[in-house]
Amino acid sequence: MTLGEYLEKQRSAIDAELDRLTPTADERPQTLHRAMRHSLMAGGKRLRPILFCAASEAVGRTAGALTPACALEFIHTYSLIHDDLPALDNDDFRRGQPTCHKTFGEATAILAGDALLTRAFQVLAEAEHVHAAVQIAMISELATSAGTVDGMIGGQMEDLEAEGRPVDSERLHYIHRSKTGALIRAAVRLGGMFGEASSEELDRLSDYGSAIGTAFQIVDDILDVEGTTESLGKTAGKDAQQQKATYPALYGLEHSKELAAKQLSLALAAVATFGEAGDRLRGIAETIVSRSA
Ligand code: IPE
Ligand code: IPE
Ligand code: MG
Ligand code: MG
Ligand code: MG
Repeated sequence: MTLGEYLEKQRSAIDAELDRLTPTADERPQTLHRAMRHSLMAGGKRLRPILFCAASEAVGRTAGALTPACALEFIHTYSLIHDDLPALDNDDFRRGQPTCHKTFGEATAILAGDALLTRAFQVLAEAEHVHAAVQIAMISELATSAGTVDGMIGGQMEDLEAEGRPVDSERLHYIHRSKTGALIRAAVRLGGMFGEASSEELDRLSDYGSAIGTAFQIVDDILDVEGTTESLGKTAGKDAQQQKATYPALYGLEHSKELAAKQLSLALAAVATFGEAGDRLRGIAETIVSRSA
């Protein structure tokens, strides 16, 4: 199977599993479940659950990863709904359709985000075929990565505080590795933990996850400049408009691309010892840097 076929197969399996794990739109309260589904089932690359599964495969576990992997997509989609709110980035368009608050109103969008966040931890806590100690460690890891200290919410806070202000490279890197890198790194590490990786393997997965996490947000910033609203499924050119702290703003486009390429080589080097078992992880890292959406 080519990498493209693998990614497509994983994407549709994850879509089906997310559908199964989410209350139907006719379940009460219907508006809330419709709003959750509006954002969750609108497509999306499903990168984080794919990484969970690929990391689990890389350490030799090929079965059972799909359900716990979906916890990452619940958290990620919640973060998008809240990121788009008028009080944060104020975006009207996401995943090729109007944002959750544009369709359902702000109050429902806030609750839909809360509900997806909560569902993530329920899904992990109810996961099967995993030792209890590993499961607790996974829940803790996910909470940390989505949290305030070097986690997603911490990064989102400093992202907002940096709007319209000059930032230095240290702060910019902090924002990127926290708001986006932390959850991506956690996706890789959780897959490894689920697959019962050795501590040496987990260290390698951590380095890989940190590198692709940073690369992912650098490329997101580049695409905000170079991409179109149509190809991205979200409004292009927003970062400059809102004077966001981004790699292109601090370093320019060309140097930003070099920095993303440098993270890619770090990621590839980190999983070199996995040999053939790491092929998918290497392919995904390359896709992250070469993507156009
Ligand atoms: C967008 O994430 C938000 C960032 C963290 C940069 P993705 O680019 O993974 O969005 P989807 O899930 O494919 O819609
Ligand atoms: C979002 O970063 C990071 C999150 C935690 C959601 P951005 O604000 O750059 O993401 P987009 O460009 O709106 O998808
Ligand atoms: Mg943002
Ligand atoms: Mg945003
Ligand atoms: Mg962006």
